[in-house]
Amino acid sequence: MTDAVRTPHPGLAESPFLAAARGEVPSHTPVWFMRQAGRSLPEYLKVREGIGMLESCMDADLVTEITLQPVRRYGVDAAIFFSDIVLPLKAVGVDLDIKPGVGPVVASPVRTMADVEAIPDLTDEHVPYISQAVRQLVAELGATPLIGFAGAPFTVASYLVEGGPSKEHARTKAMMFGAPDVWDALMRKIAGIAAAYLRIQAEAGASAVQLFDSWAGALTPADYRASVMPHSERVLAEAGELGVPRIHFGVGTSNLLGLMGEAGADVVGVDWRTPLEHAIPLVGDRAVQGNLDPTLVFAPTEVMTARAAEIIEAGRRAKGHIFNLGHGVIPSTDPGQLMALTEFVHGYQLR
Ligand code: CP3
Repeated sequence: MTDAVRTPHPGLAESPFLAAARGEVPSHTPVWFMRQAGRSLPEYLKVREGIGMLESCMDADLVTEITLQPVRRYGVDAAIFFSDIVLPLKAVGVDLDIKPGVGPVVASPVRTMADVEAIPDLTDEHVPYISQAVRQLVAELGATPLIGFAGAPFTVASYLVEGGPSKEHARTKAMMFGAPDVWDALMRKIAGIAAAYLRIQAEAGASAVQLFDSWAGALTPADYRASVMPHSERVLAEAGELGVPRIHFGVGTSNLLGLMGEAGADVVGVDWRTPLEHAIPLVGDRAVQGNLDPTLVFAPTEVMTARAAEIIEAGRRAKGHIFNLGHGVIPSTDPGQLMALTEFVHGYQLR
């Protein structure tokens, strides 16, 4: 399909976000926010009125609008595609929903080899609205890069095996420890889906990808290395073949940062619990992303920006630094504070 061949916007060559991701020198410290598109924005709540989360994710025009909202409002250096880590599972036919205030809920949790085998692989035909939304976005965004994303195998497996959000991930880890053949099949299945989902987004024009392994912090380094890392590695390797920078993020991962980099990331996302000066030596020759405590936006602006300055200074010792929060924007966040934070990061003189 020749019209699928796209010419990247020439302005992307100067993108501070892409420069930092590649370890080149950006014109200013780039900034975007995990969960920047979503419940903290009144314009988001307005367009979502009466429309379910998954339904919204399957409407290319709505996805385009919601993804653009924070870019318009804050002038952040990257857009993150509005979707969810469980959307590709829904698209292949897994019976699940995203319940407001709860998160993803799976009707029949995956526990056996037969359950794993019943999950189809993801093809382009499952998600026409995704490629369409990415193409529309890339046209609208111009010189602002679009980040595509997928859930990493461990984090997605946790929703499938537990049947919903979990603190301990006990059933998931019990499968990992006690039924390694089922675990391996499940991880392969999800890795294939995640790799296809990233490929579809990159082929439609996304300039970078982020692999969210939000709950990997539940694992020891040895278990991560043996039972999880090879699968994330495969997803990142396939994304690497598409030529887009890859960000690898998890929460509570101070003991895993080295391995998460080694898994094939160009940028390692760091949560707020690990100071960047500790994280930077661990990630090796890679850029870092993060990591302001998301609750600092509830503090007075000057307290928030003083902490942001410390993070920017610490980030200078990294191969590259993309400013972000240490996890997603909390829904009750005042958008005015994110605006002040964006302006502060953009105005900060690196000297
Ligand atoms: O960052 C963005 O703005 C892009 C959109 C995005 C969403 N989910 C939208 C969303 C992204 C990147 C995700 C990824 C995601 N989803 C992750 C990884 C990132 C992370 O936060 O660690 C995870 C673990 C999920 C699973 C999930 N989906 C959770 C935990 C929740 C929140 C449940 C709640 O309501 O407290 C969701 C729902 C969800 N995903 C919402 C949004 C905007 C809220 C839906 C709504 O408006 O009702």
